[in-house]
Amino acid sequence: MGKGEITVLRLGHRPQRDKRITTHVALVARAFGANSIQISEKDAELEKTIRDVVDRFGGDFSIETGVSWKKVIRQWEGPVIHLTMYGERLEDVLGNIEKGDVLVVVGAEKVPGEIFKLADYNVSVGNQPHSEVAALALFLDRFTEAKWAGQRFEGKRIILPSRKGKTVIDIDEGYLDREDCLKVLREAGCEQDVIKHSEVVTKLAVKMAEACEADQDLVRTASMLHDIGRSVTHGPEHGYQGGRILRKMGFPESIASIVERHVGGGLGAQELKGLGLPAKDLVPVTLEEKIVCLADKLVDDNQKVRLEIEIQKLMEKGLEKATQRVKELHRELTKICCIDPEELDL
Ligand SMILES: [Fe+2]
Repeated sequence: MGKGEITVLRLGHRPQRDKRITTHVALVARAFGANSIQISEKDAELEKTIRDVVDRFGGDFSIETGVSWKKVIRQWEGPVIHLTMYGERLEDVLGNIEKGDVLVVVGAEKVPGEIFKLADYNVSVGNQPHSEVAALALFLDRFTEAKWAGQRFEGKRIILPSRKGKTVIDIDEGYLDREDCLKVLREAGCEQDVIKHSEVVTKLAVKMAEACEADQDLVRTASMLHDIGRSVTHGPEHGYQGGRILRKMGFPESIASIVERHVGGGLGAQELKGLGLPAKDLVPVTLEEKIVCLADKLVDDNQKVRLEIEIQKLMEKGLEKATQRVKELHRELTKICCIDPEELDL
């Protein structure tokens, strides 16, 4: 507590009649930035429904039903905000609410009169009759200053925004199969030659992972997606952009960081700064990050290439640091894999 968390307290839930609307209150709370919901009436079925959503779609959100609402409000240390069409206008009150943990009280059709006295703020989202679900959504949007849109859930299921139809990706233990990777690359707008290159890099990277006893599924997924940033730029910042795109889509950090660190044997903070990006070290650290990074260097377009040719290119561009990093990566992985990765057949 005290970390700026948002808890929603739902009053007057009737398990038989209100299941759908209270489910919506809980889902809206989760999607738009609240951390938990407490419901005054016991409803085990509702708890299960919401926990199933959290399990599939991720995020850190908890539900508790059968709480004593008076006790919750009395013991609450931060501001208590009651959403009601009779309250003061949201735009008039918003700036006055202290930061910290807030309790947002959402009533059903009838709420006990005392709640108006117990709440620190009685707030209306418009003074017209509408819905507590809409009121909560609008309140959370304004209160979080729309930051909910940048939340990361990292669930097992990801819905990719699509122009037409539905693109649903199921992440199994943090991995994707080839077909799902292709869907993600296409949805991001990657060109066909980038996709072909990624498939060849994947073949080589997986062989390296096998030889080095690295996590093959992770390497397979990340190498398929390593150039997703090329959907926005072909410059050296495409790695950074790729990580950003995948995080925004809801991909796990393990995949995003491999993608982010694959360019030029890794980029140092100063190099990132020189590209106009946040100064952040993006040098491969884990075995899987190193494998994808080197496999990419060993594949030009969709063909395997001798490393010395790639090193020559880096030197001609005056990229001294990158040249050294690639050489070092090659030395290190040759040692770990007990075979020179250049010798692996596709
Ligand atoms: Fe790349």
